[in-house]
Amino acid sequence: MGKRRKILSVVGTRPNFMKVAPIVSALQRREEDFEHVLVHTGQHYDAAMSEIFFNELGVGEPDHRLDVGSGTHARQTAMVMERLEPVLLAEHPDVVLVPGDVNSTLAAALVAVKLGLPVAHIEAGLRSFDRTMPEEVNRVVTDAISEVLFIHSPEAHEHLLAEGRSAELIHYVGNTMIDTLVVMRERIDALDAPARHGLPAGEYLIVTLHRPALVDGPLLRVAADALRAIARRMPVVFPVHPRTRARLLCEDATLADAPGLMMLEPVGYVEFLSLLAESAGVLTDSGGIQEETTFLGVPCLTLRENTERPITASMGTNLLLGLAPERIHDAPELLEEVRARKHRIPPLWDGEAAERIVDVLAGHPHAEESAAAIGV
Ligand code: UD1
Ligand code: UDP
Repeated sequence: MGKRRKILSVVGTRPNFMKVAPIVSALQRREEDFEHVLVHTGQHYDAAMSEIFFNELGVGEPDHRLDVGSGTHARQTAMVMERLEPVLLAEHPDVVLVPGDVNSTLAAALVAVKLGLPVAHIEAGLRSFDRTMPEEVNRVVTDAISEVLFIHSPEAHEHLLAEGRSAELIHYVGNTMIDTLVVMRERIDALDAPARHGLPAGEYLIVTLHRPALVDGPLLRVAADALRAIARRMPVVFPVHPRTRARLLCEDATLADAPGLMMLEPVGYVEFLSLLAESAGVLTDSGGIQEETTFLGVPCLTLRENTERPITASMGTNLLLGLAPERIHDAPELLEEVRARKHRIPPLWDGEAAERIVDVLAGHPHAEESAAAIGV
């Protein structure tokens, strides 16, 4: 038997946990070939934004916690870098796995590459072509310094080639976030979250908002007013992201007393997916939710000017509304329009992405070989 490969994954925010969980399970199933180390940067730290997912998704306790917390972009990124470096030096993994596009992703990729450790990026090649989004900068830089690029949508391949990455680094493996949904499906279907919240199945709107472009400025008040109005026409359930909760308080745009509108703390994964699956549709600016709704065939109204996930609009059930919260008033009609559209699930969003990723990692050189290859 050859030496086991050591894979170290770095997670930090809510959507990272769903993207990495199936890979952790797949690596555990092949423990004769792999050892896995999990690092949690602590970018998200509220129990409802972090611990709950570790418990639900069966990821196990992180081996290292960096406890960086919130901060400006520079400070948060720098703290992850400073605290991750000694961990990577001590663990000396064969591959550092980073999911998504958050500050923790970028920070981890930078630290690893400067130590001569190969970086594998899950969800590579997505582009909104909008550099005012912090995530776009994180994506472009992470892809430029990763040497294994796992993609889940055909246009990602074109974007990476256009940026000079070579085809042999790119692996179309499918969508690990959808793997998690497939694994959790029975638990999601068994929960019946709408009944628990007294919501009529198939008739309510579920809302999530957290992008700075929408919630950090005057548009938040416009969105809040429109949500108040729409809640008189259809029940609305709104699990509120902590960034948004803080801004709603600042703006004094409280929605707590709006008839028909239920504000919740962020909910766990199974509860959220159960609410999503039984809803009339979702109104969101989330990245991951655009994909989950496309898989479930649930209409998704996206309050953004652009999306780095265009396949969810061209093939799936996503409709881009623009950064135009006044359009919330038309939600019932827009949901009908999307429901009438033909849609299908993108190729390889089939629950097997993590297995494909692990197959690729199994063929990757050990750390000494890659370090020798780049001369460190
Ligand atoms: C981050 C990601 C974003 C991702 C989102 C997923 C970056 C630049 N942004 O945005 O791409 O879509 O996570 O949810 O990496 N806060 C808490 N408790 C927490 C976490 C955050 O109260 O557990 C509050 C703090 O006031 C903090 C604010 O939320 O300042 C923003 O948190 P941060 O992680 O900086 O960005 P997100 O908006 O969560
Ligand atoms: N989600 C959740 N509880 C909630 C809201 C969202 O479990 O209250 C899940 C959602 O189903 C998806 C992920 O969190 O799996 C998306 O995270 P988020 O919208 O915060 O980040 P983004 O995808 O926009 O980066």
